[in-house]
Order: sequence, then C-alpha cells, then structure tokens
Amino acid sequence: MRYFVVMRILLWTIVAITALPAVGQSLFDPHQLHTIAKSEGHGRQGVPKNNEDPARGYDMGYHRLELDLDPAVRAISGTVTHRLTALESLSAVVLDMSNDLVVSSVTRDGQATVFFHADDELTVPLSPSLTPGGDVELRITYSGVPPETGFGSFVLSEHAGAPILWTLSEPYGARDWWPSKQDLNDKADSLDMLVTVPAGQRVASNGLLVSETVQPDGRVLFHWRHRHPINYYLVALAITNYALYSDFAPLPNSTVEILNYVFPEDLASAQNDTPRLISQMQLFSDLFGEYPFADEKYGHAQFAWGGGMEHQTMSFMGNFSYELMAHELAHQWFGNLVTCGSWEDIWLNEGFATYLSGLCYEYLAPVYWMPFKRMRRDFIISQPGGSVRCMDTTSVSTIFDSRLSYAKGAMVLHMLRWVCGDSAFYAGVNNYLYDPDIFNGSAVTPQLVAHLEATSGKDLTEFMDDWYSGEGYPTYTLSWGQEPDGTMQLVLDQSTSHPSVDFFAMPVPVRFWSGGQDTTVVLEHSFSGEAFVVELSAPVDSAQLDPDIWIVSGPGLITHVPDLATRTDHLSIFPNPASEQLSLELDAPAIPLPWTIFNALGQEVGQGAWNGQPIPLDRLAPGLHVLELRGDQGSLRARFMKE
Ligand code: TRP
Ligand code: ZN
Repeated sequence: MRYFVVMRILLWTIVAITALPAVGQSLFDPHQLHTIAKSEGHGRQGVPKNNEDPARGYDMGYHRLELDLDPAVRAISGTVTHRLTALESLSAVVLDMSNDLVVSSVTRDGQATVFFHADDELTVPLSPSLTPGGDVELRITYSGVPPETGFGSFVLSEHAGAPILWTLSEPYGARDWWPSKQDLNDKADSLDMLVTVPAGQRVASNGLLVSETVQPDGRVLFHWRHRHPINYYLVALAITNYALYSDFAPLPNSTVEILNYVFPEDLASAQNDTPRLISQMQLFSDLFGEYPFADEKYGHAQFAWGGGMEHQTMSFMGNFSYELMAHELAHQWFGNLVTCGSWEDIWLNEGFATYLSGLCYEYLAPVYWMPFKRMRRDFIISQPGGSVRCMDTTSVSTIFDSRLSYAKGAMVLHMLRWVCGDSAFYAGVNNYLYDPDIFNGSAVTPQLVAHLEATSGKDLTEFMDDWYSGEGYPTYTLSWGQEPDGTMQLVLDQSTSHPSVDFFAMPVPVRFWSGGQDTTVVLEHSFSGEAFVVELSAPVDSAQLDPDIWIVSGPGLITHVPDLATRTDHLSIFPNPASEQLSLELDAPAIPLPWTIFNALGQEVGQGAWNGQPIPLDRLAPGLHVLELRGDQGSLRARFMKE
C-alpha cells in the first residue's frame, strides 16, 4: 500500500502544476444542516477494502446536487457539494467517481484546490490537513457521459414515445453519475437535490419538493430537500413527462402523503392500484413503528424497469402490483432506516422486504398467505445448495440472488419467528430497528441475532450456522403408529440436501387428524431417527408434516406403521446425499430383505435383496429417491438424495 501512497503524492503534484481549477463559490447554507448522531462503522469482512483507505476517514454530513439533465440526452453536468467531518487527522478526501466523468474544478471552503482523478476515485488533498472533528466543504464541478455499467445506474429509455431518465445506484453505481462515498456505514445527514430540466419534464427525487421554478431560458428547476440520514445508493432522480396525484395514509401520529409520479398513459390504472398501499403502510407502522419519513412523504415514481427500487421516500416502480408496492415500502424500514452494513448482509434488506410483503398477505389478504409461503419454499428447494449469506459481494447478481437473498432470506425470518415465537420475534426486530447503534445507520447479521436472542432467551448460534451460513434444507420422513390406548409412537428422520449441514435442529409441527378433528404437536427434533411419544385419545387416521409451512423443507414422507412401538428395526441410511452406494443400518430380524427404490415421481427404478451389504446406486439418475425395505411386519422407508 505504501507504493500507492507515494504514487498519489507524485500525481497530485502534477495536477497542481498543470490543472489549476477555477475558483468556485459556496451556495451552501450551513444552517440547513441537521446534526444527527450516527452509528459507528462496523469493521467487517465483505466491506470493500478501499474503505480502510485513510482518505475515507471522514463522516459524510451533507450533499447538495445541482445538476443539468435532459432525458433525451445521455449526459450530465453540474456541481456536487459535500460537507464532511474528519474522524481522524485527514490529509486527503477520497470520493468514488467514474473516470468517464470529467471534473473541471474542486473548491475547498470556497477556494479552488487541486484534485486527482484516477481509478474511479477523486482525491482531494487537504493541505493543511484537517484535525479530527474539523469539517470542510468540497464543491465538485463536473460533466460527462455516465458509463453504461452492467446493471444500469444511469438509464435513458422511453415510454409511449416519451424519453425517460432514471438513476439506480444500488449497489455500486452512484459513482457513475455523481461523486459520492460508496460506504454502507456512512450516511449523509441531509440532502438537497436541484435539477434543471427542459420544459414539460418533471423530476422525482428524495424528500419534499421545495420549489419548481421556471428559469429565464424556459427550463425548469426542481428543488427536492431531504432531512434524514441517507445512504449513497438511496439518492436518486427520475425525469420524464410525469402525471402526478397523491394518496394519503392516516397513521396514529400523522397522515402521510403518498405522492405518485406516473406515466400519463398509465394514470388511470395507477390511480386504481396505488391506494392499496395505504393499509400496507398502516400495517408496517403497527408492526415496526410509524413510517420513518412521515414528516416528509412517501412516493412512487414509475420507471421502465422490471422490478422496483426503494429510493428513500420515493420508490421507483416498474409496476404497481400489490407485492412490489409492499416490498419497496418495507425497505423504508429495512434497508433505508436501517441499512445492511455490508453487501454480505443484503438479506437484512431483501429478506425483510420480501417477508414484509408476505405479512401483508398474512394480516390483510389471508387467502394469499399459504401460496406465498409455498411459492417461496418451492423456489428455495428447487436447488440443493446456496446460502443466505452472500458469498460473493463483487457480483451484483449474487448480491440480488432472488432465491437466496430474497426468498430464503424471507423464509429464514419466518423460521426465526417460528423458533422464537411471535412476541419475541416482533419485540426483537423492533429492538433491532430502534437500537441507538443501528437506528438511522447500518446493521450486520449478528446484531439482529443478538436482539432476537435477548427477547427469546434462545441461543440461535446453531440455527444461524445451519440456515444463514450453511446451505440447503432438510427433508423429513415421519413414521407413526398408535397403540390401542391412543398413545402415538413417532419416529422422525431427516436428510439434508447439502453436505454443509448434516442436521437442521428445528421444532417440527405435526398435525394428526381424527375424523374432522385435528391436533398439532411440535416435535423438538434433535437427531435423525429420534422417537417421540404423544398421548392422544382419539383414533388417528392421518398425519401431516408442517402443514402451515413454518419450515423450508423438501416434500415429506409419512408412513403409518401400526406396530411402531414394538419395532426395533428402525432404518437409517448413509451417506446422504449418496453417489455410488447406500449403506443401511438396521437391527433386522432376518436377512435378506427385499428392497425397492422409487424416484421422486413414485416410479420404481430398482429392486433387489438386502443381505447386509451396501446397495449400489450407479444406475440411478441424480435426484430424490425413496428406499423401501419389506419385512414380514411391514415396510420401512427412507429418503435419500442421489448425487
Ligand atoms: N433493491 C431492489 C429491490 O427492491 C433491487 C435491486 C437494486 C437490484 N439494484 C439491483 C436487483 C441490481 C438486481 C440488480 O429489490
Ligand atoms: Zn428489495
């Protein structure tokens, strides 16, 4: 790293000699600044290395973006002002800024100063340097053509023949269009966004619209103002010929304006769809505290994208479906008020937002709740592996993996609720959101876990090892039998879909039916093959495993074994998954015993006689199978995965 430091100093000198920037003038009013206590950064793996750069040892205070834009032209020009405070002795400030943007001047507290722009970083040397606690105002004037990065951070498109321009900076795209500090652990306290656009265009952005002023040249200046801590990737603008209207959400302490910027051609359908957001906002406010930006607004800005993006106080929406509206709204608490502290923890944003859209079904439209859980579960188990913890934060598609960060993240929260119980779960999540170290800042997974452990009194270490860091899911096999006095004898087996987890210890709900009457018991499952005794009086005619979907598990197998209590021949098999052969462990009364293997469709794919030796699997296709062993007292079954 020494090498780079030396190089930088050398190059600054060159810039100082060859590029004397113009003197800028401060438009910044320090009285507008809110000083809000911020959380400390959390040292953590997965944070890009450059966050350890000493030139990032500052606390971002205020952003003022003054931009000229035309949605028909791929170009940007303007001035970005930052006010920031040194956290340590600071001899330079580094900002993230694409090399494709051209900086014409930088001023420090109104005085032109030197800068250095390379490797998508803008470095402003501070000489004299700032002492800890000292602050500085930097104004960066620039122009250029924002690069077209893979995921579209500055996008020009059209709708019904009209041009539209929008930004979408999550996770790494802010630098493509403005100089920013791409650091999840450093929110700015406050933001002003001033954008000048051609007549007929409207700008949607964060916070409150302060003014809309026609300029002498006929163009229009939109000034948006936001006075809450905000992360770099939640700062956004969208420009087109928007039509607009408002809905209003009455909450216990305020009525929130929901400002909708929609395509004129979609005005009628949007006006029909967006009022459904009102009860969602009331529900989230009930469950997780009042909408965090109620003093300003919530809003939707339509854009021509498949999904949505939770820009603070103004979500960008590809459509106004019930689930997408709930998802982006949920992010205002989970993602915006509290931001994931590293991209490895993205499930704290996406898992929560997805789960909260499910809670809208549970509490507001219950017929959709089971299908929501079933769809998520089936999507998760469509592949045997994959962890909720994001293992490659350099890959945008891995960060936003819809199966793992979204679906499995949501279902891990659902399982935490199951394990902790409703009241401990909701109390723990609220304590997490409003923890002074987290509120208005960022959080990492262990902080959520600590709050849930505190409210539930449970140790969640193994749960998180299995479900968050580990991969895959369990598949259950339940054998049940009932004695004449009603006593139920149960044996619960489990195989796992991925070798990273050999057993998922879970409370497993089982429902027994006697005629039309049902009784649900919860088995605290701590090893495969565990036996349970449950006293029931009515004669049971059928059993269901996890009927309400609390657990992500493969299709369960239930066998009625009338004389289970007297059986010593419970079957266990290994390895599982298996590739070449399957070993059986069984106190068999007599061998050989005939066996049959069925595939997932129930088709017979092999048979033979077991004589104590492993059963060869070389002729099986990969996938889930059931092995059935027949003795004179009935049959035993076990499920396994062929690799
Ligand atoms: N956070 C967005 C959401 O609400 C999704 C998103 C943002 C995204 N940036 C992305 C998805 C880049 C894919 C690629 O779900
Ligand atoms: Zn999301």
